[in-house]
Amino acid sequence: MKTISLTIDDKRIRAREGEKVLWAALDNGIYIPNLCALRDAAEPFAGCRLCFVEIEGYDRPVTACTEPVREGMVVHTNSPRAQRLARTALELLLSSHPVDCANCPGNRACELQRLAAHLRVKLKTRRFRRLERELPVDSSSPVFVYNPNKCVLCGRCVWVCQEKLGIGAIGFAHRGFQRMVTTFAGEPIAQSRCQGCGDCVRVCPVGALVFKNDCPEDKAAGRI
Ligand code: FES
Repeated sequence: MKTISLTIDDKRIRAREGEKVLWAALDNGIYIPNLCALRDAAEPFAGCRLCFVEIEGYDRPVTACTEPVREGMVVHTNSPRAQRLARTALELLLSSHPVDCANCPGNRACELQRLAAHLRVKLKTRRFRRLERELPVDSSSPVFVYNPNKCVLCGRCVWVCQEKLGIGAIGFAHRGFQRMVTTFAGEPIAQSRCQGCGDCVRVCPVGALVFKNDCPEDKAAGRI
């Protein structure tokens, strides 16, 4: 396997030729904000727009999950332009995400908390008008609870269910603000092709998909 060398934030590193900048950075202990990236995916989803970096010689920031490394490349993860774009992407996400961390089963494991701390963005940001959804929570699976109101549309669960496992119980539906992850006919999870493996829960970066044993709402409702 051929490797090349590049510099990220003044740190000289080596990476496999063809590797994306995001993975080269993370492998070398350099954090770049990200939500939707999955290493095993053949193609990056590139939907969250959080992984912007600046590369010397480029006229604008690029997403690290789509940009392949090159010999001699010089990358800056903290440039003002890259940070501004990532902050805006995060604040837009947070404007439609119910922020109630104390009562969320994803608390402390939630990537939004880590991202907000890293990018110095308040979880209850007021930069954009709040637009929260009030969709029904699906507790029909014996294994997990799906709260679509907390979903950040990163696509990880869809990739796992469709591409990795080939089950295809869930996918994206609708466009714009209505866009959501759902079963194909919109039926409850328990009536879909879901086999209850829980792999979608394991890749969810927030508290949208949680195992029932972790769900205080479910416990309070007497469902577990
Ligand atoms: S991690 Fe690059 S766009 Fe989401």
